[in-house]
Amino acid sequence: MCGILGCISNEDIVPMLLNGIKRLEYRGYDSWGLAVVEDKIKLIKNVGNINEECLNRLELKGSTGIAHTRWATHGGVTRENAHPHTSCGEEIAIVHNGIIENFQEIKRSLLAEGHKFMSQTDSEVIAHLLEKYYNKFKDIKKAILATVKRIKGNFAFLAIFQKDSDMIVGARKDSPLVIGIGKNKIFLASDVLSFIEHTDKVIFLDNLEVVIAKKDLLKIFDFKGKEVQKSVTQVAWEAYDVSKKEFSHYTLKEIYEQTNTLKSSLCQDQIKLNEFCNSIKSAKKLFITASGTSFHAGLLAKYLFSKISKVYCEAVLASEFNQIIEWVDKDTIILAISQSGETADVLDAVKKAKEKGAKILSIVNVVGSNLDRESHLTLYLNCGPEIGVAATKSFTSQLALIYFLAFTMINEYIGINKLKRLNECIDLIFKQKDKIVEIAEKYKNSNDFYFIGRSIHYPIALEGALKLKELSYIHAEGMAAGELKHGTLALIDIGTPVVVLNPKDQTYCDTLSNALEMKARGAKIIGISNLNNDVYDDLILLPEIDELFYPVIEVIPLQMLAYYLAINRGADVDKPRNLAKSVTVK
Ligand code: F6R
Repeated sequence: MCGILGCISNEDIVPMLLNGIKRLEYRGYDSWGLAVVEDKIKLIKNVGNINEECLNRLELKGSTGIAHTRWATHGGVTRENAHPHTSCGEEIAIVHNGIIENFQEIKRSLLAEGHKFMSQTDSEVIAHLLEKYYNKFKDIKKAILATVKRIKGNFAFLAIFQKDSDMIVGARKDSPLVIGIGKNKIFLASDVLSFIEHTDKVIFLDNLEVVIAKKDLLKIFDFKGKEVQKSVTQVAWEAYDVSKKEFSHYTLKEIYEQTNTLKSSLCQDQIKLNEFCNSIKSAKKLFITASGTSFHAGLLAKYLFSKISKVYCEAVLASEFNQIIEWVDKDTIILAISQSGETADVLDAVKKAKEKGAKILSIVNVVGSNLDRESHLTLYLNCGPEIGVAATKSFTSQLALIYFLAFTMINEYIGINKLKRLNECIDLIFKQKDKIVEIAEKYKNSNDFYFIGRSIHYPIALEGALKLKELSYIHAEGMAAGELKHGTLALIDIGTPVVVLNPKDQTYCDTLSNALEMKARGAKIIGISNLNNDVYDDLILLPEIDELFYPVIEVIPLQMLAYYLAINRGADVDKPRNLAKSVTVK
């Protein structure tokens, strides 16, 4: 996934573009670039994080421009492959987010026609196609419509033209593109976040739409060229607060935000919530689908819907959804869970289910994302932008909303008292920071970690291991505690750290036996429990809460442990290597 941003104004837009794409680095951060058009197109590109110094040296200025932050998919991380890409005559520059699936075939035919390519990317074909069709039709609209007709895959792109220095054109198919309408400024971007300090007035472009923006004109067409009228939405500024505040990393800030975000995730429209619950309750077949951390929330939803609401469902990894597609029909409800709403596997699963007539319910953080738009009904997490690549606050918001659904289905409500208690418990865990830092110091040189839990603690064991892997790069495995004896025990050695999720509930004794079994083989046991026991070498004490709610609080020390282990190992916590925030490739 990549981030794109364009701006037209009366003033120099380079600082706005630069700040804007910095905000989009959560979408990709291996290289970046920007281009402005005055009498000519001028551009700058670089490998690595966005670097202001470099720009200052170049003294690039302009009132119309486009910018890009890249996450490499086609073509390595090199300056040549960084966007913007230009046409042969450098009279057109483009930035692109997505994948052009048929780029090889297009590139071959353009090469045969004499076009010269500078990069190994799929994106560059867009610049050459625009050039070809603009030369043919001498008309921007016709050129862009012919281009979108020719390319397959998913894309949102922006282009500037030397011939018209106050214009940006754009198009989207299955990748987001939003328009910001500011005072004497128009923005076109992957995400509102990139321009929110300049305007809160937004037009969400729909799939298969094209935009032609000038200082004093904004036209939107469908891919057949028919003009479409769009309404302007006013978005909430607070929902896009992206300051790091006093925290050293966004990830840490987002961990500490969780007492507030839990609250906002429960602020739901009652009518929508009831409709959501009724659909789930009356479903003949219910499948939950998601990826990564969101899948762990989905797995817990399966347990909670069954335990609390007496609703049976299956949780299916979005990347495996195709394997059960023959069971999906018009009597099926799909519950898709995604922070970004842009995960390719989730979107693919949802589209296939829709084709079979299923109703799509979704739980999403990013309003206006593709999943939001593909769904019949969406509930929002309302947890604000999650900038750290690793999901933290979005996970607990997903959990809170899942509990809310499970209880609403049986006409019970998670009242203010329950929420207050959850927040008190989380605060009590934050107070154990020194203990968590000490554990992180003790185990910083460990090469393998295991996380175990039974029943509703099993999804949290999976999540603890995922957090540790992605933040600290330590190998970790999360598993159902009962599965240990079926193989994994062979890996337990002297000093192997094992995190045991074991608050006092009906799983307590069995999980304790598993801890003892591992201890007997030399493991170091880190207990996450409200009860101390000699088996634990270290204990993070869970405050008392109704036992069904332990998953929401027990994940907090796991997030903190992963964070501090990552810090101890010198990892880039907010931007772990090889990972992008939204995975828009299959
Ligand atoms: C883990 C993480 C990923 C995402 C996964 C799904 O910390 O960030 O595993 O959870 O890529 O992303 P969404 O929820 O945006 O669909």
